[in-house]
Amino acid sequence: MPTALIILAAGQGTRMNSDLPKVLHTLGGVPLFAHALAAGAALEPERTILITGHAGEQVAKAARTIDPEIEIVEQSQQLGTGHAVLQARDALADFDGDVVVLYGDTPFIRPETLAAMATARAKFDVVVLGFEAADPARYGRLVMQGDRLEKIVEYNDATTEERSITFCNSGIKMASAENLFKLLDKVENDNAAAEYYLTDIVGLANASDLTATAVACDEGETLGINTRAELSAAEAAFQVRARLEAVENGTTLIAPDTVFFSQNTHLGRDVVVEPNVVFGPGVTVETGARIRAFSHLEGAHVGAGAIIGPYARLRPGAEISNDAHIGNFVEIKNAEIGEGAKVNHLTYIGDASVGEATNIGAGTITCNYDGVMKHRTEIGARAFIGSDTMFVAPVKVGDGAMTATGTVVTRDIPDNALAIARSEMQIKPGIARKLFEKLKAVKASPKKG
Ligand code: UD1
Ligand code: MG
Repeated sequence: MPTALIILAAGQGTRMNSDLPKVLHTLGGVPLFAHALAAGAALEPERTILITGHAGEQVAKAARTIDPEIEIVEQSQQLGTGHAVLQARDALADFDGDVVVLYGDTPFIRPETLAAMATARAKFDVVVLGFEAADPARYGRLVMQGDRLEKIVEYNDATTEERSITFCNSGIKMASAENLFKLLDKVENDNAAAEYYLTDIVGLANASDLTATAVACDEGETLGINTRAELSAAEAAFQVRARLEAVENGTTLIAPDTVFFSQNTHLGRDVVVEPNVVFGPGVTVETGARIRAFSHLEGAHVGAGAIIGPYARLRPGAEISNDAHIGNFVEIKNAEIGEGAKVNHLTYIGDASVGEATNIGAGTITCNYDGVMKHRTEIGARAFIGSDTMFVAPVKVGDGAMTATGTVVTRDIPDNALAIARSEMQIKPGIARKLFEKLKAVKASPKKG
C-alpha cells in the first residue's frame, strides 16, 4: 500500500516566546519538524506534504533543503487540526493509498511505532496512536470498546467520566486517503474551541460503516514541544537516546555525557569518541576512526581508520579519507584530504584538495579568500609542505613536490619540484653580544628628567 505523510506545521508556537516559528527551533542539530520527517521516512512514503501557516515561507525553505521533493501546502488560517489536514486534499487528489498524519512539533515517534500502526491498518479503517498518560491533563481522551476505538473527546468537551480516562490521543493518525478526506468533509466546528477537530473522524467513522482502533506507544514518544523548557528537556532526552544508540551500534564513548550528537550523525563500528566532542549536523564517521577530545565536526565525512583531533574542527565539506590524520588546532573546510595524508598542527585548509600520503607542516594556511571571492588550492600526492607555508589561492602543487618552510606560494609548483620563497638569512658575528651590552647599559643608566 503506498503511503503519504502529512506533517502539520502551521502553528506559531506562541509559548516558545520567539520570532522563529516553533518547528524551526533545532533539536539534535536539525529543525524540529525534520524529526517527524525522519520517522515517517521509515514507511517509505511516496508523497510528503508539509502543512505550513505561520512564517510559511521560512518553514518551506528549510523543508526544501532537507527534502527537495517535499510538497508544501499552506493553511492560511489555523482553524484546527482537521482543517489543517483537509488543506492537503487537492494535492492528494490523485493519490490512492494510506495517509499518515504527523505533528511537526512531536519529534520522538519511533519508526517501529508507525510500522505497528501500518500493521493495525490491515484490520481497521482508522488507526490512532495512543498512550497511557501519567498526567492526562488536557490531552484528547480515547474512548475504547475492547480493541475498537469509539471516539476521541477533547478535554474541553469531555464529561467528568471521560476525563478520568488515562489513555490519550498522541495526534498521529492513519487512514486511507479516500476515507480520511471523506470523513473530514463531515467534521463541524461545533465544539468548545470552535475548531475543526481531526479527532472527530473517529466518531464519524463509527457512525458510518468504518472501524477504528488505537495502537499504544510509550508516552515519551508522543512528547510535544510547546515551550523552551520543553525544548531543552527534549534536547537532553534526545542526547541520552543518541548516546545509547551509538554504543549499541558499536561505538565506544569514553565519557558519553560529554558527547553531543545530531539527528543525522552516523558512526560506524569500532569508532572511538573521546570526551567533549560535538557532532553538528551531517557527520558520518566510518569504521575504526577515532575522534579525539574537544573536536567539533559538522557536515563532514571521516574515512575508516582516520584520526581527528584533539582540538580539531571539521566544517561543512570536509572529506577526510581513510587513515588520514587531522591534528590539534586544525580547521578543514570544503576540502578533501587524501588517504593517509597528515595535517597535524595549527593549520587551515579550506576550498582545497590534498593528495594521498601528503604531509602538511605546522602552521600551513590556504589563503582561500581575497575579500570578495573564494579560490581553490590543489595539492598533489606524496607532497611535503614545509611548516608555515602560505598558499595564495588559486594555486596548484604537483605530486611529490616540496615547499620550504615559510614559503609564500603564489604560482603553481610542478611535480617533484621544490618551491622556496623567503628572504635570505644573514649571520653577523658578535653582534648579539654587542647589542646585549648596549641594552643592559641603557637599563642601568639613571633615568633622565
Ligand atoms: C491535539 C489533539 C488532542 C491530542 C493533542 C496531542 C485535536 C483536536 N486535538 O490537541 O486530542 O491529545 O493534540 O498533542 O486534534 N495545527 C495546524 N493547524 C491548525 C491547528 C493545529 O497545523 O489549524 C498543528 C499545530 O501546529 C500542532 C498540531 O497541529 O503541531 C496540534 O495542534 P494543537 O493546537 O497543539 O492541538 P492540541 O490542542 O494540542
Ligand atoms: Mg498541542
